[in-house]
Amino acid sequence: MRKDKLFLGTNTKMYKGINDTVSFLEKLKEKTLDVADSPVELFVLPSFTTLYSAAQCLAGSHIKFGAQNIHWEDQGQFTGEVSPLMLREAGCEIAEIGHSERRHVMGETDAVINKKVLAAIRHNMIGLLCVGETGEQKALGITEETLRIQLKTGLNGVGADEVKNIWIAYEPTWAIGVGGTPASKEYADKSHGFIRQTLVDLYGDDIGRRIPLLYGGSVNNSNAMELLAMPNIDGLFIGRSAWDADNFSVIIHEALHQFKLYSHG
Ligand code: PGA
Repeated sequence: MRKDKLFLGTNTKMYKGINDTVSFLEKLKEKTLDVADSPVELFVLPSFTTLYSAAQCLAGSHIKFGAQNIHWEDQGQFTGEVSPLMLREAGCEIAEIGHSERRHVMGETDAVINKKVLAAIRHNMIGLLCVGETGEQKALGITEETLRIQLKTGLNGVGADEVKNIWIAYEPTWAIGVGGTPASKEYADKSHGFIRQTLVDLYGDDIGRRIPLLYGGSVNNSNAMELLAMPNIDGLFIGRSAWDADNFSVIIHEALHQFKLYSHG
């Protein structure tokens, strides 16, 4: 199976402070220098307080970085929020939007997520839109309905010329984090196929097929390659298994070798 390009990244959630983030990034940078010219998009989304230090550390490197959340207004009376202008100033290229924990712990709705997507686009950032059904929705057999609502609402108002700045992560809630069960490769691929079809319905064949679709939810060293080998999966959005730079680097190298994308710098 050949792929033209892979997307491999991590969100460090609320775990690493400045020192841990910097040492993680330094190590990851060094361990992946040999893939800098390979067709892979490597990215890390650390905590807000670490972004300035992350920017110093990753300046000019092959690793993109961004934030785990974004506010939809440029400024205003929004105590505790961080605006797209501030993220841009800190050097962020990516804004993660609608992670399962934001939806289900922080109560973000599809309408709010849509405003954030539009803000990311307005500021020329990559909007990494996360979608996925809960365990209950899966049991009720409404996975496809849920994904369709999340996609059509989340991308409302995003034009065909703007959607090139969108990446989608399929992260079913039941698969994420401690206690999560990874989706089987077949299940993940089927959901990705459905997401792809929805994007093609929205944006047409050419544009809809070019939007990167990443899988996330208990990805580890044992299942990463089989997931990536599925036709509808363009990349992996990894939590726990990527927080150790050595381990993340192993997954990155295996992936590039498996898909014959490794090219020396
Ligand atoms: P996990 O997290 O890989 O630790 O399950 C994935 C995510 O929340 O993006």
